[in-house]
Amino acid sequence: MQKLEQLYEGKAKKVFMTEDPDVVIVDYKDDATAFNGEKKGTIVGKGVINNRMTNYIFRMLEEEGIPTHYVEELSDRETAVKKVEIVPLEVIVRNVAAGSFAQKLGIEEGRKLLAPTLEFSYKDDALGDPMINDYYAIAIGAATREEIDKITEYTFKINEVLSKFFAEAGIELIDFKIEFGRFHDQIILADEVSPDTCRLWDIKTREKLDKDRFRRDMGNVEDAYQEVFRRIGIK
Ligand code: C5P
Repeated sequence: MQKLEQLYEGKAKKVFMTEDPDVVIVDYKDDATAFNGEKKGTIVGKGVINNRMTNYIFRMLEEEGIPTHYVEELSDRETAVKKVEIVPLEVIVRNVAAGSFAQKLGIEEGRKLLAPTLEFSYKDDALGDPMINDYYAIAIGAATREEIDKITEYTFKINEVLSKFFAEAGIELIDFKIEFGRFHDQIILADEVSPDTCRLWDIKTREKLDKDRFRRDMGNVEDAYQEVFRRIGIK
């Protein structure tokens, strides 16, 4: 598969066309941003980890019946994926209070929630990705009721599969963000699942092993990403 012209460059990835109109190549960068692009930096080796970890997880989710955009890993940083139209929603699941949830509700970080939550943010950098609900999403044409229901069903199933998967590696899945796309009228999982998009804590010590180390200037960012990669044992 050949990389043709660049279609798009995002904060963490570049996307290239291929000779197949249904397939694009994603190229993962080491660039890191936080707070809607206000904080910028580099996490050395992150592109390789996020690419290989996402692919491993997407293959696992496919086996569990979740359709994804994954086609083929081409190199440490490059993957062929189905060309989707991204549904402009960030879908966030929380198992434990942290981040904006803990802040907004005045709950201490680390409190286990009585049930997993699901929330949507409207993907719009200029607006700072405002939180919306399903009625807003339908009202502004971001998704249909059928799409929202499918996304909700897939998302809770993904949470179950991933929580178990990380727990087996001694990691607690605190929360995560995923995105979906439309591929020939089918809703499929797109984008990535990585320490950039998940909060991952050591199950015993509750040490943070994710992008919060970068967001909060905690140091040892690269080591934390490597530790997650090592623990999940991707060959
Ligand atoms: O900041 P907040 O607590 O709302 O983040 C919830 C989860 O969503 C975290 O795992 C965070 O890494 C992820 N997230 C993301 N991209 C964003 C916003 C949040 O991956 N733009």
